[in-house]
Amino acid sequence: MSTPAGTSANSTGTGTGSVQLRPKLSELAATISANAKIVEDYIEAQGLPYPSFASDGPSNFPIPQTPETEGIHEARQALLTASKHIYDLATGPNEYLRWLVWNYNDVSTLDVITAFDIPKIVPIDGDISYAEIGEKCKVPELKIRQVIRLAMVNRIFYEPRHGYVAHTAASRLLREDPLMWNWITYNTDDLFPASLKVVDALKKWPESGETSDTAFALANNSESLFQFLGARPERAKRFGQAMSAFSTGQGYAVEHLVKNYDWGKLPKNATVVDVGGATGFVCVELAKAYPEFKFVVEDKVKAQLELGESTLDPALKPQFSYVEHDFFTEQPVKGADAYLIRWCMHNWSDKYAAIMIKSLVPALKNGSKVIINELALPEPGVLNPWEERRVRTLDMVMMMCLNALEREEGDWKRLFAEADPRFRFEGAKQPPGCLMNIVEATFVDE
Ligand SMILES: C[S@@+](CC[C@H](N)C(=O)[O-])C[C@H]1O[C@@H](n2cnc3c(N)ncnc32)[C@H](O)[C@@H]1O
Repeated sequence: MSTPAGTSANSTGTGTGSVQLRPKLSELAATISANAKIVEDYIEAQGLPYPSFASDGPSNFPIPQTPETEGIHEARQALLTASKHIYDLATGPNEYLRWLVWNYNDVSTLDVITAFDIPKIVPIDGDISYAEIGEKCKVPELKIRQVIRLAMVNRIFYEPRHGYVAHTAASRLLREDPLMWNWITYNTDDLFPASLKVVDALKKWPESGETSDTAFALANNSESLFQFLGARPERAKRFGQAMSAFSTGQGYAVEHLVKNYDWGKLPKNATVVDVGGATGFVCVELAKAYPEFKFVVEDKVKAQLELGESTLDPALKPQFSYVEHDFFTEQPVKGADAYLIRWCMHNWSDKYAAIMIKSLVPALKNGSKVIINELALPEPGVLNPWEERRVRTLDMVMMMCLNALEREEGDWKRLFAEADPRFRFEGAKQPPGCLMNIVEATFVDE
């Protein structure tokens, strides 16, 4: 039913070689047309809300991600990819580059809009004049208009009549979704200034893998990101919410890990240790699917463990224990069947990632699994441009904030091999529809 999708590498991924460099406008247009029809037919047949920029439009693309909709999502990806290619091609390198460097103004508009709380000033129904917004913000009308009209280019607000502002779906999200608000303001307040220090950090500490030798520290009186958050509970709280906004985005759901790792190959009453597990929310999902497993949630931050324990469903209590533990020191839970590390290692350079793996070794028994759930970056050109931008940006942010990185499958393999030759590397699997990988190694000590 959903055949067109990508007709060649230039319409599904960024492709390689000449296909990547010389796409044809008419072929891209045909890909767009065929795949738009598949997506649209599905939306209409299922009676789903039609995507729109209007304030009552759905805040997520309306087609759920399920095994049944896999073909429709392939069509959507092909549509996004071809649209990006055709836009860039029709713009031309000169214009494209000239305006690319002005993207910081987009972040700047978000900064002003959130700093002055403009999404709350604009009524959810109806409109409001620039003059009135200016008055409420104590900023001259013309300056407020300059900012908002640029934001409108990104479909944040629109002008239903001359001189008046109303909500779009995106600006409404800023008003109503606290996770999104925290994600945006964490970026504008805490990360944006650091982005201006990347060159200085690279020149000052080119080889460093320390969290203190970063662009973030240069922008924040020599404090590393963790020191900065540790000293500012409000910022730390916002950081936590921003991370939730990120990890609840499409492709990052915990259910991918629950459904796509073969947990059934572990013993029926297996013990799973969640290293750096925060509140243990990942194990909670696993516990529902595997009621005979036992879970040990470990974290250095006691408050996270306490929050997890106090909010745990009483029915799951017999399966859970919580242990305060620093993952750079020897693993205290000996002989567990699996040690899960999710979204922790990308915060650390190879020097520290190696210590994390080596710290597990004294606890491992023959057959213990080490399961790492984060990214395994593919070669450039494999992902579609939209996903490629996401993972490359995340990789850059890791460097800017922590001297850390997103790793490729080969990096994971090398880390395990260097940590202990008894690890058998099992690979880095990417479940369909998931943007994260499941990296696995088995400890073989016979
Ligand atoms: C990005 S969060 C990942 C949380 C969770 N595993 C997940 O999948 O979302 C990183 C976690 O590592 C914890 N952490 C940071 N440094 C640690 C250390 N040295 N030892 C143990 N946990 C640590 C943090 O408190 C936080 O809960």
